[in-house]
Amino acid sequence: MKLPDGPKTPPWLQLIQWIADPLDYMETSVQSYGDVFTVRAGSLFQGVFISNPQLIQAIFTAEPKLFDSGRGNVSGKIFVGENSLLLLDGDRHQRERRMLMPPFHGERMRAYGELICILTQQVSRKWITGQPFSVRESMQEISLRVILQAVFGLHEGPRYQELRQLIAEMMDMTASPLRASMLFFNFLRKDLGAWSPWGRFLRRQQRIDQLLYAEIQERRISNDPERTDILSLMISARDEQGEGMSDVELRDELITLLLAGHETTATALCWALYWIHSQPQVREKLLQELDCLRGNPDPTEIARLPYLSAVCQETLRIYPPLLLTWPRILKAPLQLGDYQFDTDTTLLPCIYLTHRREDLYPEPKQFRPERFLERQYSPGEFFAFGGGNRRCVGAALAMFEMKLVVATLLSNYQMALADKRPVKPQRRGFFIAPASGFKMVITGQRMPQEQPSEPVAS
Ligand code: HEM
Repeated sequence: MKLPDGPKTPPWLQLIQWIADPLDYMETSVQSYGDVFTVRAGSLFQGVFISNPQLIQAIFTAEPKLFDSGRGNVSGKIFVGENSLLLLDGDRHQRERRMLMPPFHGERMRAYGELICILTQQVSRKWITGQPFSVRESMQEISLRVILQAVFGLHEGPRYQELRQLIAEMMDMTASPLRASMLFFNFLRKDLGAWSPWGRFLRRQQRIDQLLYAEIQERRISNDPERTDILSLMISARDEQGEGMSDVELRDELITLLLAGHETTATALCWALYWIHSQPQVREKLLQELDCLRGNPDPTEIARLPYLSAVCQETLRIYPPLLLTWPRILKAPLQLGDYQFDTDTTLLPCIYLTHRREDLYPEPKQFRPERFLERQYSPGEFFAFGGGNRRCVGAALAMFEMKLVVATLLSNYQMALADKRPVKPQRRGFFIAPASGFKMVITGQRMPQEQPSEPVAS
């Protein structure tokens, strides 16, 4: 059947628009073609963008066997390897997911709470009152430390330090739309030596692999049953035939969790701090709520705070770090509302456009956490973490981390935006982040329960 209508500009131009200014590209398209339109941006990227909540809900609740997503993520193979959860489909995907999920839930995840607060304090202690600091660098450092320590069980030391440095450098290589082009165009991926962008990327990647393999080897030898981090659990996991995961499989899943979990959470944290400090009434309300927690509150108590939760949800609504879910490629024809789609059609539930619907979120450009207290949104209306059988494995950890980092920083510091001008969203690799150069400044220390606290001299 004919695909829904969509932008008519040549595919190469659509791809450039998608890379350079994806928000404008999507907003213009939805105005012209409505909430279901077809994007043809070269052979690399085409599919049906869907921002209709009922249709999205139907996709998330459909029989998982109806779709493949892994083969739609194949361009990520160069980063995460062919055994990554992102690239798997069918039974193997479900098996691997079952193995990865437990450490991200329940008691295990709660145990990370205290560590997240400590790591936040370690990073923020480096800030100097009155001196602007890069919010991106700090949030990235926090989220990377959380993954390396809480999830991988890696402890401070030369390997940890080197990994931290290499991953931060690798992420910065796609920090602007121009640099992010490397992710989309094969011809830019040419190893012209250690000084060429792709050459540098490959050398960093090789070194990261060496470090990860060394860690895997050490863990296999020490085989400590007391360890509860995800790497240890993956090493001891066995399939129905009693087979464990190979080193390459372990490496691919580790790098997947690093890449999927670190930049996304750091981006969300940058936006949260921006919105909270650009809206004085939001900051005030949040502080009032935090100050009601007396003494040294338990992380799970902090995570239950309703306004803090609403602030984090609104942050993920207004600029979701990922604009789209993974592709859903049809393995059989599907009737979705009034549309009949053929086998092999790629459906792309669009997080950004759904989160910007006026009928769901009145005045969608306004940051208004209260909307999440006033009504409950369905999985087809709010889905920053995707849905169905591909829903983000780290969603609970990411929300927990966002709340604890924001609460720790706001309780301890008086902070302000270094520049009063609005911060613009910009492509950073696969994500939409505050434009580079977003800085904040510490204007004073704050003791919890001080209401209001006095700024200290800078
Ligand atoms: C604010 C932070 C985060 C956001 C906004 C986010 C968002 C997403 C989205 C939209 C998807 C695709 C879901 C779909 O297609 O339905 C996804 C998948 C995934 N995420 Fe996250 N994520 C975040 C943090 C994390 C963290 C902390 C981890 C792990 C440490 C993680 C690991 C993964 C993995 C492994 C998948 C693949 C799931 C699969 O294919 O079955 N993410 N995430």
